[in-house]
Amino acid sequence: MNQTISIRPECSDDINDIENITIEAFKNHPHSNQTEHEIITTLRDNDALAVSLVAIINNTVVGHIAFSKVKINNEFIQWYGLAPVSVKPKYQNQGVGSKLIFSGLDAIRGLNAKGCVLLGEPDYYNKFGFKAFDNLVFKGVPPEYFLSLIFSGDIPNGNVEYHKAFA
Ligand SMILES: CC(C)(COP(=O)(O)OP(=O)(O)OC[C@H]1O[C@@H](n2cnc3c(N)ncnc32)[C@H](O)[C@@H]1OP(=O)(O)O)[C@@H](O)C(=O)NCCC(=O)NCCS
Repeated sequence: MNQTISIRPECSDDINDIENITIEAFKNHPHSNQTEHEIITTLRDNDALAVSLVAIINNTVVGHIAFSKVKINNEFIQWYGLAPVSVKPKYQNQGVGSKLIFSGLDAIRGLNAKGCVLLGEPDYYNKFGFKAFDNLVFKGVPPEYFLSLIFSGDIPNGNVEYHKAFA
């Protein structure tokens, strides 16, 4: 389908749409406990939503992506976590998720990010350059699903901790 997808930072009018899209996208997700929309709200309320972008098609918000700082070995070292990313089911498989991810990665690069981590399907995220590294660990998850993308410097070693909103 040939339609224009535009990406921009969230504004206050988007908050309900973001919540609804996130709920809808994760509704039948096998590894979700359906709290992703609450994570976004908690991050926003704690000023921890470092990047929050929406995707628009025909003046309608159809997708959202969030990034927040992560700690590695208890320190913030300019690494970010990508989560969550959601596309309204009706608009999936049309390139919206990819455009959100590429734009979000550009946005955190603009914040001098050194790298980004996420928990997700390697088959989907490999195309953005994410891969699993043995020594960068998120405890409690299968290592092959914990993926990283390095922008600068070496891959850090150690344990990754997301904002408490993800607890
Ligand atoms: C994951 C998600 C954001 C992708 O958005 P999208 O707009 O459908 O993605 P795109 O159109 O850019 O890419 C679609 C491609 O990715 C593939 N894909 C989508 N989800 C995938 C997954 N979980 N594993 C492997 N491949 C996947 C599709 O099969 C399609 O492949 P193709 O290009 O070879 O046909 C969207 O499917 C979604 O909201 N899912 C529910 C929530 C979720 O799982 N979020 C990610 C975890 S935080």
